[in-house]
Amino acid sequence: MPKVYVTRDIYPEALEILRRGLEVAVWDEDRAIPRDVLLREIGDADAVLTLLTEKVDQEFLDHTPKAKIVANMAVGFDNIDVPACTRRKVVVTNTPGVLTETTADFAFALLMAVARFVVPGVGYVRDGKWESWSPSLFVGRDIHHATLGIVGLGRIGQEMAKRGRGFDMEIVYYDVYRREDLEQQHGWRYAELDDLLVEADFVTVHVDLNDHTRKLFSTEAFRKMKKTAYLINAARGPIIDLDALYQALKSGEIGGAGLDVTDPEPIPADHPILQLENAVVCPHIASASLQTRTKMAILAAENVVAVLRGDRPKTPVNPEVLDS
Ligand code: GLV
Repeated sequence: MPKVYVTRDIYPEALEILRRGLEVAVWDEDRAIPRDVLLREIGDADAVLTLLTEKVDQEFLDHTPKAKIVANMAVGFDNIDVPACTRRKVVVTNTPGVLTETTADFAFALLMAVARFVVPGVGYVRDGKWESWSPSLFVGRDIHHATLGIVGLGRIGQEMAKRGRGFDMEIVYYDVYRREDLEQQHGWRYAELDDLLVEADFVTVHVDLNDHTRKLFSTEAFRKMKKTAYLINAARGPIIDLDALYQALKSGEIGGAGLDVTDPEPIPADHPILQLENAVVCPHIASASLQTRTKMAILAAENVVAVLRGDRPKTPVNPEVLDS
């Protein structure tokens, strides 16, 4: 029976799918699998189901000579050296589509939380500091009718735009691909990135991490943004230079930030950004609804089963391996 190694105890529905025809081994501790254990365990695997915490590089591939597929349970796959997998004819799959709205929901929650001081407000009440109503207590900025600048108008960016429209926001976007169809259909407006940064009250990041987007947001970008603007990131941490962001927030160069992702992850608990009232930092949970995480795990499992059966997986990242 072919063997799949699963690098974390994922949802039972997904393991059930795998167990129907495969020998399944699972790292079942609730922490990322140590690298040495991973490299040992994948030695005889025909497939590996990974999380974004696992680095799939040449060393990984050298330790799993039989593997036909690496199925990542994430839409992002910056943890995977895809060209190296393609050279070895290992199919890589991700989980697009199933987490789009859930991720946009959370990005919007971050936007609202930071603009309206939800998190410090809760802390204030918990700490017993709330003595009376005050006209100047935790005074944030309006979300409705503000300009939402979307950097990256892919699936998640588009859902973010729809949410913004629900709040009567003006939508301006930047993407390497201009989407005139969506502009016409929804009244969204295209702008060059620099113009978007100057104009937006909220800048929300929905690009993938690659050589062009690494540190896309650093001191220079923060200087262009409004002093009152908020930056939201539920994409990947390294798109923002975290230390530069801290300086920008502290010096008042920008108004606030809502982050679901950081560089590094986890962010050290003593990072000074965590002490700022105008920053909300969450532990990479934007896709974390029970329904969505279950769907992601099931899709990853179905991709494994398809490839080991010789069928086409639903969501290949390097389809050229299948076509060759
Ligand atoms: C989560 O960050 C994902 O890429 O799915």
